[in-house]
Amino acid sequence: MKRSDRHGGNLDATVFSASRRAALIARRRVWKMAALAAAFSLFALYLAWLEAYDAEPRHTDESPLGEAVAQASAPASGASGLGPDLVRRGEYLARAGDCIACHTSDKGRPFAGGRAISTPFGTIYTPNITPDPDTGIGRWTDADFMRAMHEGIGKEGQRLYPAFPYVEYTRVTGQDVQAIRAYLNTMVPVRYTPPSNDLRFPFNQRWLMVFWNLLNFDEGRFVPDPKQGAEWNRGAYLVEGLAHCEECHTPRNFTQGLKTGERLSGAIQAGWHAYNITPHKTSGIGSWSDQDIASYLSTGIAEGRASAAGPMADVVSNSTQYLNRADLRSIAIYLRALKPIDRGEARARAEWGSPASDAVALRGARIEGVNGAQLFLANCASCHHWTGEGVGASAPGAYPSLIHNSVAGASDANNLAMVILHGVHRTTKDADVLMPAFDRELTDAQIAAVTNYVTKQFGNPRSTLSAEQVGRLRAVPQ
Ligand code: HEC
Ligand code: HEC
Ligand code: HEC
Repeated sequence: MKRSDRHGGNLDATVFSASRRAALIARRRVWKMAALAAAFSLFALYLAWLEAYDAEPRHTDESPLGEAVAQASAPASGASGLGPDLVRRGEYLARAGDCIACHTSDKGRPFAGGRAISTPFGTIYTPNITPDPDTGIGRWTDADFMRAMHEGIGKEGQRLYPAFPYVEYTRVTGQDVQAIRAYLNTMVPVRYTPPSNDLRFPFNQRWLMVFWNLLNFDEGRFVPDPKQGAEWNRGAYLVEGLAHCEECHTPRNFTQGLKTGERLSGAIQAGWHAYNITPHKTSGIGSWSDQDIASYLSTGIAEGRASAAGPMADVVSNSTQYLNRADLRSIAIYLRALKPIDRGEARARAEWGSPASDAVALRGARIEGVNGAQLFLANCASCHHWTGEGVGASAPGAYPSLIHNSVAGASDANNLAMVILHGVHRTTKDADVLMPAFDRELTDAQIAAVTNYVTKQFGNPRSTLSAEQVGRLRAVPQ
């Protein structure tokens, strides 16, 4: 009904008081929400029905080949996997799963949780998974632990949020989960209760995860592909399972579930672009060799192609640098056999750029406003050289070339601005890599200017950023 019908034309403004109007709007909103909730519930019921009558066979828990693949990774001790061997294996697997990255906020109390994870729906604080009986998982049975890892269900039967990557961990064999538990049991119990989550309604309603799980979660262990070799299967087991590479590299749908049809074709993670790592020649890493991939994952550097910053530097520091050569090779073999996904790039990220030759021309020239070249000479050239060719070649810990660097050559300048804002920190067995952060020294306009200078001179000249875009990137919590 139109308001004018009820109140007779222009009387509207006076008769129809603000408070009544607000009440009407609120009532309408309630109705709209109720209708939406009803539609959603019906849809969910339909999905539940589909799931119940699904003719697809369930995954078997532990197929013999799966076991063989899992065993292949165990240290060749010949022991039955009990005692110290089990714990050692658990340590290796916990690193492959990068548990420490999310479950540690203070390095002095590893695994005690409390790290804030920003999601589009609010902040989740990770729980304490040390064996403390009151604040950790000391009272959890092995079955409780298994259920959390495989089904995303907590000790009290509550649904866990998928910020805990159980969508991938569900593929991990029972044996490997057991080993991780055995390792966690040897940790020092830390008495610490993390802050409670700060999620907006309705996302603070855990039971709603029932619907999310129906839409986006396929419970079941990894099933090896008998048509593929042992290395491919081992790589698939790690990438799709414990190492949860997809959490960052696979795009998400509007309910934040992984788009399984576009696996590993690139996504934005905390403002960073986790690039397309399918073997597409120009959009992905199709020109990388197995050795390039293995070297990137173990040191953070693929010579003449890329170095790891931001969330990927953390992955290398906490997780992939500890993987043995056989596993690194298996991951490379698996990645290079993926379906290549085209994102329309004309040239590979690492194939852009030539050294600058304009520093001489700049001398004595009048410079107006915010000048990218000048900012580069003042802030970056001491390490990356004014030609952009870097200092110290590509030795670990050297100052890298910005030419043939995936960040400067990417089709968006996101990561370049993020590297300038936050610097690079990466600790590996070879080096302690450090580039300073410029978030306090440079304004948004200055960062935009130096970013645009770097992409134009050394990278993909079509990748540009405005000061507003830098401001938005600066605001993303890290
Ligand atoms: C990407 C971040 C991330 C990684 C990696 C991660 N977790 Fe978690 N984990 C979480 C979050 C967030 C929660 C809390 C979920 C919730 O509150 O619903 C959680 C919850 C848990 C729980 C349930 C604890 C409880 O008190 O309810 C267990 C057990 C657990 N994780 C074990 C592990 C293990 C073992 C690994 C490594 C194999 C691991 N996590 C890796 C983020 C992570
Ligand atoms: C926490 C998020 C996250 C996870 C988990 C993650 N990555 Fe990454 N990855 C990134 C980001 C962000 C970048 C871009 C890094 C940069 O700009 O320096 C990246 C870059 C890469 C690159 C380099 C691409 C290029 O062209 O520069 C490779 C290769 C890669 N990741 C492989 C993997 C593999 C394999 C796994 C699983 C073992 C994995 N990543 C897990 C976030 C992640
Ligand atoms: C004190 C020396 C130093 C300064 C100053 C410096 N950098 Fe760096 N830069 C480094 C180091 C070290 C790395 C990391 C090398 C590695 O990953 O092994 C790096 C990495 C990079 C990368 C590659 C990141 C990636 O993920 O591949 C880019 C791009 C970059 N710097 C741009 C800049 C720009 C632009 C400036 C000026 C605003 C600058 N740097 C200033 C030392 C420096």
